[in-house]
Amino acid sequence: MKQRIEEVKKNFLRQELASPDLLEKFRLQFLVKKGEINSLFEEFKKLGKEEKKEVGQLLNNLKKEAQEKYDQAKTLLGSGSVQKEKEEDYSLPGKSVGQGSRHPLSLVQNKMITIFKEMGFSISEGPEIEDDWHNFSALNFPENHPARDMQDTFFIEKDISLRTHTSSVQVRVMENCAPPIRTISPGRVYRNEAISARSNSFFHQIEGLYIDKGVSFADLKQTLFLFVQQFFGEETKVRFRPSYFPFTEPSAEMDIYLGTDSEEDYRLTKGTGWLEILGCGMVDVNVLENCGIDAATYSGFAFGMGVERIAMFQYGIKDIRTLFENDKRFLEQFKALG
Ligand code: PHE
Repeated sequence: MKQRIEEVKKNFLRQELASPDLLEKFRLQFLVKKGEINSLFEEFKKLGKEEKKEVGQLLNNLKKEAQEKYDQAKTLLGSGSVQKEKEEDYSLPGKSVGQGSRHPLSLVQNKMITIFKEMGFSISEGPEIEDDWHNFSALNFPENHPARDMQDTFFIEKDISLRTHTSSVQVRVMENCAPPIRTISPGRVYRNEAISARSNSFFHQIEGLYIDKGVSFADLKQTLFLFVQQFFGEETKVRFRPSYFPFTEPSAEMDIYLGTDSEEDYRLTKGTGWLEILGCGMVDVNVLENCGIDAATYSGFAFGMGVERIAMFQYGIKDIRTLFENDKRFLEQFKALG
């Protein structure tokens, strides 16, 4: 009996099932009720108990293998023919591939980056988990000085926090590169603020830094003015207001003029017509020295702006949180823009 099983096995292993006809022949020879394997099962019934144990397993395996060989060949032949049909039927409707779109924040950020790149700024990136030196001390925030409260910080441990601005990246650049430096640092920043329609616990910034011999406030104004003209349009009016940042002296904030004609502009500008878009100033001498740059030879300016704020203004988005919910119905509205 064992020998018969071996023979049948050898026999079906030898067969090449390369066409539907051969496949059918195989089925009739081995797999149907009156096929060779089933007749072995008939004989099996007549065996003694001990023999049954051993032969039974061999028989079951035999049946399984034959069935597997058949199934495999069938799928192979089957998929081949389906493929062929597909290639030939040009009348079938095209298969649509769902295409994503750029996030509105990426759209705005890319546009900003392009403008500064054209002015000759390089791009610098740095870690989001930052030490106290790069996020605060090097930037002239004295220890225990209330200025540190300006930016509610998420601490990870003492002296290690999530960065509260990308000025930290600029410290790293100043420490590692000799002037002239002309770079922007885009990236995500974190602040421990109450989440509302206007503020979130994380957002994105683009900060810029320019250091060379003889850089003045006039260069700062001209650079930002050019940026505003390119980003918001040639006619956009701007104004600078004195402000305070520990790392710049003098410091300013820059507003663009929207007017108060529309209700929306009135609301956004709180009735003044002016919308604040960035902070800026001349890099404080202490910061230059902290980063190993000779302040007697070099001077520079820095600026920083929030990407969400500008995206919200550009697209009329009323709640900052919609930028982070990733609701496809919201995101798909920006498809046409890139
Ligand atoms: N780092 C400041 C902020 O996060 C922005 C800024 C950058 C202001 C550079 C002045 C100069 O608010």
